[in-house]
Amino acid sequence: RLVFADGNPEARIMLVGEAPGRDEDIEGLPFVGRSGKLLDRMIGAIGLDRTKVYIANVIPWRPPGNRTPTPQETQICLPFIRRQIELVDPDVLVTLGNPSTQALLGTTEGIMRTRGKWRDYDTGKRTIRAIATFHPAYLLRSPSYKRLSWQDLRAIATVLAV
Ligand code: URA
Repeated sequence: RLVFADGNPEARIMLVGEAPGRDEDIEGLPFVGRSGKLLDRMIGAIGLDRTKVYIANVIPWRPPGNRTPTPQETQICLPFIRRQIELVDPDVLVTLGNPSTQALLGTTEGIMRTRGKWRDYDTGKRTIRAIATFHPAYLLRSPSYKRLSWQDLRAIATVLAV
């Protein structure tokens, strides 16, 4: 199934993950499985819910067997997510995990180095403040990083407050 997006296209904050998993493929919506439940709690911790955020993925289809998307698949899908970001035009763009961060923020560094730092994302028309944080699926495997993820969420809340 095509998993296009969920949430509010007028939102001030847009979150972008990697690709749908099994649950997302079944429902046709991003982040509805276990990691999605955690993502809901993460945004809930800073007073947001799906009526106040917009959620999409770099790749809108589930890679067979949940394999990592190939670099070619990512390149093919990149213009579409870029255009989606341009149209939603959020105040803050959040990349969830390594693949989304590397694809959208043009870095080859790992999430441990990229997370929590404000960057500029250029839509071609405007510069949007962007920040990387851990993917919720990663936090489910490594809960000790939730503390750092909380720092990132606080930083995001602070920027949204102005
Ligand atoms: N993981 C992602 O990156 N995206 C989803 O939609 C679900 C799980």
